[in-house]
Amino acid sequence: MNVVLNVEKICKSFGKNKVLDEVSFKIRKGQIMGFIGPNGAGKTTAIKLILGLQAIDSGEVYINNFNIKRDFERAISKVGAIVENPDLYLYLTGRQNLEVVARYYGVSDEKLIDDLLNKVGIMDRADDKVSNYSLGMRQRLGIAASLINNPNLLILDEPTNGLDPEGIKDLRDLIVELATKEKVAVLISSHNLAELDSFCTHICLIDKGKIIKNVNMNSLKAGEKPAYVIKLNKTRGVSKFLGKDDRITEDGICVYRNNEEIPKLIKELVDNKFSIYEVNREKLSLEEAYLNIVGGK
Ligand SMILES: Nc1ncnc2c1ncn2[C@@H]1O[C@H](COP(=O)(O)OP(=O)(O)O)[C@@H](O)[C@H]1O
Ligand SMILES: [Mg+2]
Repeated sequence: MNVVLNVEKICKSFGKNKVLDEVSFKIRKGQIMGFIGPNGAGKTTAIKLILGLQAIDSGEVYINNFNIKRDFERAISKVGAIVENPDLYLYLTGRQNLEVVARYYGVSDEKLIDDLLNKVGIMDRADDKVSNYSLGMRQRLGIAASLINNPNLLILDEPTNGLDPEGIKDLRDLIVELATKEKVAVLISSHNLAELDSFCTHICLIDKGKIIKNVNMNSLKAGEKPAYVIKLNKTRGVSKFLGKDDRITEDGICVYRNNEEIPKLIKELVDNKFSIYEVNREKLSLEEAYLNIVGGK
């Protein structure tokens, strides 16, 4: 059983405002789930419920098979999280902040703290006060703190807020390393699709408290009818094979077909004396895929 986080039909209302409506998803070992939706969609609320920071109206959350309501301590013991902003003591140094967290978890391990400072790339500033840190450095320190208990589930709520492009890239590299090398499961929320595009393995789209899509990144990007770019020796006479949205390109055609239709089209082309040099399936950007799903509304 490699499901690390299992969210089952959680609901939450504030007064009459139903903010989460039967939200369900799972994250397995080593998966990076991008939790995406516009501001106000319910991302932070869902994360707070998952972490036991707010009461769940109905539904269940299991972390490493422990129920967050009934078995809080064991459920939370292998979780690292940053919700909204990392909790840091500004008047302490980066290293001292990690020492505080380490003491909280009952670990006293200088080497671990050094390793974490190196891992998030703030070793050279470890002994400066956090009040002198940039937002990006605070975020890195927050991540170091969230890793002290050696979590197998890392939850980051909008961690890229306020980071510069380099900071975002570093964060991305760090997350990918944790997921691939240490098989940490990651839930990372964002309202910015482009930032999550390159490294999430799965995407969970939430809008107005409902999950509207939960898929792995590749199938999301393939779309329902992926675009295929086919390079041909000639384009003369090819138009009779094209459908409504298909088009002729400089050196071939671009067609929108599902997987099963492509071999048939290729055979037809070959039977009609076209030479095929290349067939490539175009991938959508996360943003294009998202607009395909929600754009119609
Ligand atoms: N403590 C609260 N009391 C009342 N309404 C809240 C509270 N927290 C969040 N909300 C409402 O819940 C909705 C979802 O908010 P939130 O989970 O913060 O969305 P997101 O993180 O996706 O931007 C919003 O309409 C917000 O106003
Ligand atoms: Mg939020």
